[in-house]
Amino acid sequence: MNAYDFKNRVVVITGGAGGFGKGIAARLLASGASIELWDIDAGALDAASQELNGGDRVGTRSIDLTDNAAVHDAVRDVMARRGRIDGLVHSAGITGPTTPLADYPPEDWNRVIQTNLVSTFHVNQAVVKVMIAADYGRIVNVASIAAKEGNPNASAYGAAKAGMLALTKSLGKETATLNIAVNAITPAAARTKMFDQMPQAQIDYMLSKIPRGRFVEVDEVVSMVCWLLSEENSCATGAVFDLSAGRATY
Ligand SMILES: NC(=O)c1ccc[n+]([C@@H]2O[C@H](COP(=O)([O-])OP(=O)(O)OC[C@H]3O[C@@H](n4cnc5c(N)ncnc54)[C@H](O)[C@@H]3O)[C@@H](O)[C@H]2O)c1
Repeated sequence: MNAYDFKNRVVVITGGAGGFGKGIAARLLASGASIELWDIDAGALDAASQELNGGDRVGTRSIDLTDNAAVHDAVRDVMARRGRIDGLVHSAGITGPTTPLADYPPEDWNRVIQTNLVSTFHVNQAVVKVMIAADYGRIVNVASIAAKEGNPNASAYGAAKAGMLALTKSLGKETATLNIAVNAITPAAARTKMFDQMPQAQIDYMLSKIPRGRFVEVDEVVSMVCWLLSEENSCATGAVFDLSAGRATY
């Protein structure tokens, strides 16, 4: 395992109580960072915080990221307590229903777009202001291979994740002359609690389409995210990093 130096770095992780978020948090903590976990699920946040056992290097905030004012409050709170935000991993997300577009309930469409795409705007905007002022920052937006491929029966999810990629590229270009990197990753399916939101038939279908013949491991996501978050990533920005085990095409 490669070692990165995140000593004195402060990293905000949205969806921090989830599978990817918690895995990333554990590796960053072990690498010296202080982390701030933001998630809508207060119970899961408490459990994650206990499991991580990082003392005062772990902060938690129960927050709905679709609420712009709440996100800006959360950034102010981190700045008041820690004085800096060096990294952001935006990993919060939901799948929404597994349903053909012809039958897709409009209220679910709106919820998926708000949760997966509009929250990306809120979080990136609030955090990048701090990074611009400091002339330092690393942002990783967690999208999905669905963004590139448009999975059947997941149109809202794919559309929202595709929007995340465009936002990432725009912000990457806007900040390219600063010491700021803004990138996205597009993993294939990984076994986390996100699978609880999908029927088994959909999970089996996705597995059948992954060339490596297996799901992506959380640790594999963690490795790529940690490099993108590190100071060593001084060039790559406005880019999308594939993590699809052979370019899965659902
Ligand atoms: N697991 C996969 O197969 C997979 C594959 C590709 C991409 N992704 C993406 O990776 C990210 C992390 O997924 P995961 O596998 O860790 O899933 P997860 O369900 O374990 O974690 C997602 C977290 O986001 C939180 N969340 C949802 N809505 C929120 C809101 N409005 N405000 C704040 N927090 C909210 C949830 O409470 C949850 O803890 C997601 O964006 C997902 O779309 C997952």
